[in-house]
Amino acid sequence: MQKSADTSAPEHNAGGGHQPVMLDQVIDLLLQSHPEQKSLTGTIVDGTTGAGGHSLALLKHLEPNGSLLCFDRDPAALTMASRRMGEDSRVTTIQSSYADLARHCAPETVSAALLDLGLSTDQLNSERGFAFRRDTPLDMRFDPAGSVTAAGIVNHYTIEKLRDIFFQYGEEPLSPRIARRIAEKRSEEKIETSSQLLAVIREAVPERFYTKTAARIFQALRIAVNDEIEHFENGLIAAWEALRIGGVLCVISYHSIEDRRMKRFVAEMVKGCTCPPQIPICVCGKVPTARKLTKSALRPTGKEMRLNPRSRSARLRAAMKIA
Ligand SMILES: C[S@@+](CC[C@H](N)C(=O)[O-])C[C@H]1O[C@@H](n2cnc3c(N)ncnc32)[C@H](O)[C@@H]1O
Repeated sequence: MQKSADTSAPEHNAGGGHQPVMLDQVIDLLLQSHPEQKSLTGTIVDGTTGAGGHSLALLKHLEPNGSLLCFDRDPAALTMASRRMGEDSRVTTIQSSYADLARHCAPETVSAALLDLGLSTDQLNSERGFAFRRDTPLDMRFDPAGSVTAAGIVNHYTIEKLRDIFFQYGEEPLSPRIARRIAEKRSEEKIETSSQLLAVIREAVPERFYTKTAARIFQALRIAVNDEIEHFENGLIAAWEALRIGGVLCVISYHSIEDRRMKRFVAEMVKGCTCPPQIPICVCGKVPTARKLTKSALRPTGKEMRLNPRSRSARLRAAMKIA
């Protein structure tokens, strides 16, 4: 594998803001879309631009006649990323979900695509309700024009729906208890802020579980508000269809639901014939369309985890389209 430039250099960090995760590994994997693994060519997609840390590095490796499409649902993220990238005719920013990739790229035209899931440090530090350590209104929308907010979910969804959200997206074992307590509280007073929600969680679970539970509930609400799993599943298909033969897709996920889905997606693409073993000749005609570039999920180095604790849960998987 060709070693890329040292992307731990300070210009890739948004001065105390979001630091791009597993940058060197991502660049090395995406460079495999180029036969000599020296530079990126053609159309490159950053599906989750955020603060633009990965985009900046992609630009550094992109040939002068290449183009970089920068997607994000959050217009504030795109504004920040554009500022950091400066005037560059190769860059197009698109305020949209990467799940809508097909509207912007014809099939088999993209050389490399990156999805770095979840939220950025800048969003976490904003007043938009993503962080449970800040007292802000319970919003959590990536796209401020979205119709669902965290307060909307907390105040209006049924107990059963809340329980399922906390259980599925937060893997929180005490989900039923928390959902019930929310329903009791909201009948007295609307739950509008992160501190109100935290007070309810504190009442619902033993103190020793409080911090972990709060983190899980906030994660679950964010995933539900932004319908992240649905976007991811549609986005994987869209990104795969957009890739040219030899193109590479990289996904960094931060929790097991998304990592499992990516793992399953790649396994499905790698698999050829699905005929039962007792049939002597293939009748399904299915051929492998992917080659795994990561045998199992790659993890950040110990050094990166120390320097950027938010990278600790990252898992990186990549595949090349071969047919
Ligand atoms: C972890 S951050 C990306 C950080 C970025 N790679 C960097 O180095 O600065 C994830 C970003 O993805 C965006 N996002 C989440 N879901 C999205 C989707 N379905 N389509 C486009 N952007 C999305 C979030 O708004 C956030 O800015």
